[in-house]
Amino acid sequence: MGAVNRTPFIAGNWKMNLDHLQAVAFVQKLHWALKDAGHEAGTVEVGVFPPFTDIRSVQTLLDADKIEFSLGAQDLSVHDSGAYTGEVAGPFLAKLDAKYVIIGHSERREYHAEGDDVVAAKVQAALRSGLIPVICVGETADDLEKHGASAVPVAQLRAALDGVAAGAEVVVAYEPVWAIGSGQAATPQQAQDVCATLRGVVGELLGPDAAAATRVLYGGSVKSGNIAGFMREPDVDGALVGGASILVDEFAAIIRYQKHVGV
Ligand code: 13P
Repeated sequence: MGAVNRTPFIAGNWKMNLDHLQAVAFVQKLHWALKDAGHEAGTVEVGVFPPFTDIRSVQTLLDADKIEFSLGAQDLSVHDSGAYTGEVAGPFLAKLDAKYVIIGHSERREYHAEGDDVVAAKVQAALRSGLIPVICVGETADDLEKHGASAVPVAQLRAALDGVAAGAEVVVAYEPVWAIGSGQAATPQQAQDVCATLRGVVGELLGPDAAAATRVLYGGSVKSGNIAGFMREPDVDGALVGGASILVDEFAAIIRYQKHVGV
């Protein structure tokens, strides 16, 4: 199980799925499913990361119904305002009560040519706006074969944390690219090994307190059937879930992993 002082974090990256009406229905249903199951809010932090166009609607629902999910965005601009057509600024997200923003997801690295420099600039932009960056790192199948599991994620994390102050709060998500959307999750041991190494990097760059406090998540084909295995590992503090995060019963079951962690 994750270390005592770190609240487990189950985060749903919806990617480009669910419009704002579907988003409201989904969040409401997830809330009810967890209530019906007697889930105690507070034992696990639940995060939802909808597309930008849904955020205002989800924020309004969370606020009106006093639903204790954390809200996050999937991206932000490196700039805080200005002539950047199509971009969304960190301060706008903070105004919508977003707490987190995903940065460096492999899909942005691959389809939007975001390199380590852009990722580092986005981490700085998030922190300037009071948002907690969820920094995604991970190796491709090719990297894994050539360099082993940790080399690329470690290099990506070092670059992302460049210039970050020791007291800053960040979340790290280890997402092996070969495991994303493939149905082929890493083994709990593989996830543990890389997550522990990444925690070491946090310690080296931000200090021992940050290493102890920072949540390191695993992501890549997480399902209700494999979450318990990951959460048993000492350096895995939660999951960044893609496909299974937009299925109400699946995501509710993942959030309730503590009920089946012994299985
Ligand atoms: P899947 O859970 O669909 O493999 O996606 C993982 C992911 O990319 C989360 O950010």
